[in-house]
Amino acid sequence: MSGAVKVFAPASVANVAVGYDILGFPLTGLGDEVIIRKAQKPGLYIKTIHKNKELSKDIFKNTAGYSAYRLLQSLGLENKEAIEMELFKHMATGTGLGSSAASAVAGVVAVNAFLGNPYSKSELLRFATEAEQVADGSFHADNVAPCLLGSFILIRDNESLDYIKLPVPNGLRAVIVHPKIKILTKDARALLSNQVSLDKHIRQSANLAAFVSALYRSDFDMISRCLDDQIIEPQRAGLIPFFNSIKDIALSAGALGCSISGAGPSIFSLCHNSIIAENIEEAWRKFYGDNNIDCECMISEINLEGAKVY
Ligand code: HSE
Repeated sequence: MSGAVKVFAPASVANVAVGYDILGFPLTGLGDEVIIRKAQKPGLYIKTIHKNKELSKDIFKNTAGYSAYRLLQSLGLENKEAIEMELFKHMATGTGLGSSAASAVAGVVAVNAFLGNPYSKSELLRFATEAEQVADGSFHADNVAPCLLGSFILIRDNESLDYIKLPVPNGLRAVIVHPKIKILTKDARALLSNQVSLDKHIRQSANLAAFVSALYRSDFDMISRCLDDQIIEPQRAGLIPFFNSIKDIALSAGALGCSISGAGPSIFSLCHNSIIAENIEEAWRKFYGDNNIDCECMISEINLEGAKVY
C-alpha cells in the first residue's frame, strides 16, 4: 500500500455525431482531480469538494465516491480500509463534457492506485460506469471509457463493456465551445424519441462504420463526410443557443465536422490542424460575444493516455 495518491481524469466528448452512447474521445487540459489519503477510521469518506457547492459528499450520490466504493466492495474492503477523498471539480456539471464521468474515473483510479493497483485500467471500467449511472440513470460508457483509457473508444456493447480503442490520426484537434447554460443529461435523454426510421438507421450505421475505418487510415476527407448525425442532433439542437449558426461557422472555417458534445450544451468540432482550430475558436468567441452569450472556448488534442496518477 502507498501513501497519498493524486489522479487527473480528463473531460470527454461523447457520441461524436455518429456514435450515440457508444463512441467518445477525451480532451487534454480540462478534467477533474482526486486526492486520496488514509482516513482516521475505517470506511470511505469524501472530505472536501473544491470548486462546487452543489455536489453531494455522500459516497452513494457522488460519482467519485461511488466508483471508489464499488471497487472497495468488490474486494471486501469497504469497511476495512480507511480512506478519505478530496475532489477538485474543475468542470461544472451539465456541460456535456463528461464531468460526472471524469469524477467517477478519478475516484476509482485513485483508490486503485492507493491499494497498489489490484485491477488493470480496463477492469476499472465497470466500477466507473456504474457510478456514471448514479448521475444520469443509464448504463453507458461513452464518456467514462475514453476518460479512463484515452483515445477514441468505440463500445461494441455497453452491457458487457466490450470496447475497442481506436487510433487517432496525427494532427487531429478538437475545438470546444461551452455556452453557459446547463442541460442535465437525464433531461436531454428523456426528450429523445425511441423510434428511428430504417433510412436514418442505414445512414447512421454507414457513417459510423466509415468513420472508424477512416480513423485507421487517417482519411480526413472520409472523416468529414461521416460526421453527420441523422438521429440525435436534430432532436437536441433546439436546446442550444444558435446551434445551427455555430455549426455553419465551424464548417465554413474548414472543420471536418461539428456536432453536440454528449448531451450538450457544449459543441465540438474536429479539425485536421491547429490553424483551422484557432480560426474556429476565434470565430465562435466573436459570434457568441456579439450575441451576448457567455461562453468558454478551448482547443484540445485528443488525449491518448486517459486518466493518470501523478
Ligand atoms: N451518450 C450520452 C448522451 C452522453 O448523449 O445522452 C452523455 O452522458
